[in-house]
Amino acid sequence: MLEIRNLHARITGTETEIIRGLNLTVKAGEVAAIMGPNGSGKSTLSYILAGRSDYEVTDGDILYNGESILELEPSERAAKGIFLAFQYPVEIPGVATMQFLKVAMNEQRKARGEDELKTPEFIRLVKEAAGDLKIDPEMLKRPLNVGFSGGEKKRAEILQMKLLAPKLCVLDETDSGLDIDALKIVSDGVNALRSPDRAVIVITHYQRLLEYIVPDSVHVLYKGQVIKSGDKDLALELEADGYAQIIEAAA
Ligand SMILES: Nc1ncnc2c1ncn2[C@@H]1O[C@H](COP(=O)(O)OP(=O)(O)OP(=O)(O)O)[C@@H](O)[C@H]1O
Ligand SMILES: [Mg+2]
Repeated sequence: MLEIRNLHARITGTETEIIRGLNLTVKAGEVAAIMGPNGSGKSTLSYILAGRSDYEVTDGDILYNGESILELEPSERAAKGIFLAFQYPVEIPGVATMQFLKVAMNEQRKARGEDELKTPEFIRLVKEAAGDLKIDPEMLKRPLNVGFSGGEKKRAEILQMKLLAPKLCVLDETDSGLDIDALKIVSDGVNALRSPDRAVIVITHYQRLLEYIVPDSVHVLYKGQVIKSGDKDLALELEADGYAQIIEAAA
């Protein structure tokens, strides 16, 4: 589903290379965890997948269902089912969360050649999904993410993901800032999306999340490269021993 080949990328307009020859394959149906020290390039990779213009790819390719997405705009990538839940969700003053969700869902439907959702149907879907995530419907009247607590922002990201039902979901540290109950609720939300035709990439620092969302593969990112891949036991090793050994072995 996703194949990243020898990817090199730098900050647009500079010589600063952040992704330095990264290879990663994630199959449909797979949940892949990406771990790695602070500053190793995990968020940068997620931004590049989403198509943010702050970064430019200088070499390599990103194939999504066999086709390069490098030339696609962020909106085109979203229309193809690529979704990124941000490490730091963006506040959108002046746009009520409900309104944002409606536009996002209808854009996606349009891209698939489907009719716009009727308002009652839309409200039913949102209420159901918000209920599953224990999100107070009153919150959805507020501007998106503005004044939301850290955990509320993360839940709002998962709400968007549930409603858009993307094919490739990238979750950047969705667990950070969540209380214990919310961690469980959000994990259930992600697990409910697991399906043979969907892939999920979870970026996390903690094995704890991976007890709830059990990954099929674990990849360690360091200095813009995947330096080790393994199964869920690799996360346990990291938890016990830290990164030093793996970094040394890869050097
Ligand atoms: N626009 C930018 N200008 C300067 N440096 C940048 C920029 N974007 C990213 N970097 C640098 O690139 C490196 C990778 O950053 P990134 O946010 O991808 O790390 P990360 O693996 O997500 O870390 P964390 O675990 O702390 O979230 C960091 O050293 C960061 O300072
Ligand atoms: Mg990050």
